[in-house]
Amino acid sequence: MNAIKALLGRNSAPGLEAPGPDAEQLDTICRAALRAADHARLRPWRFLLVRGESRRKLGELFVAAALESAPEMTAAEKDRLRGKTLRAPLIIVVIASHREHPRVPGIEQDLSAGAAAQNLLNAAHALGLGAMWRTGSMAYHPRVKRGLGLGEAEKIIGFVYLGAVRGNPKTLREEDPADYFAEWPA
Ligand SMILES: Cc1cc2nc3c(=O)[nH]c(=O)nc-3n(C[C@H](O)[C@H](O)[C@H](O)COP(=O)(O)O)c2cc1C
Repeated sequence: MNAIKALLGRNSAPGLEAPGPDAEQLDTICRAALRAADHARLRPWRFLLVRGESRRKLGELFVAAALESAPEMTAAEKDRLRGKTLRAPLIIVVIASHREHPRVPGIEQDLSAGAAAQNLLNAAHALGLGAMWRTGSMAYHPRVKRGLGLGEAEKIIGFVYLGAVRGNPKTLREEDPADYFAEWPA
């Protein structure tokens, strides 16, 4: 797909199903993430691929984490949480890994990891796949971070769900750049 067409048409797909990206598509998507803008070339990120049965393990980790905060959860609430990680054939966990640098504060490193996440979305869309960036309380839960093996200087920037789009693509809302862009000084 033409790059501008892909950028202008990108949208999130909450309904995703198998098949996930094939090996070549996944390689392209991963390479796109690594092209994110990155002050001082710190590569302040890493990514975990969660697919197949590992998605169930992640679901169980979510339940264990949620139980720490809300031990009174019902069986139905636990099942709902378990089901979240099965919403797509592949989840890429985007992790910001802060490096010590005199001129690059943590916020810039988070932004760089966010740009990598956006590149994942754009690449998936350009390849005709669906994707959606999600966080929610699980992205910030210490138990989830521990369970995924994050270190002290790391944080989860998002869970990017990827797969084939289920159903019809949504109609995009037209945005007017004039609502957001202005000349300065006015
Ligand atoms: C950092 C971040 C976290 C997000 N977390 C969630 C989430 O947990 N659940 C959700 O429904 N949408 C979440 N979104 C929004 C969707 O990814 C998506 O951008 C939104 O539904 C708008 O759809 P669009 O991308 O097609 O414009 C998040 C977006 C960002 C940037």
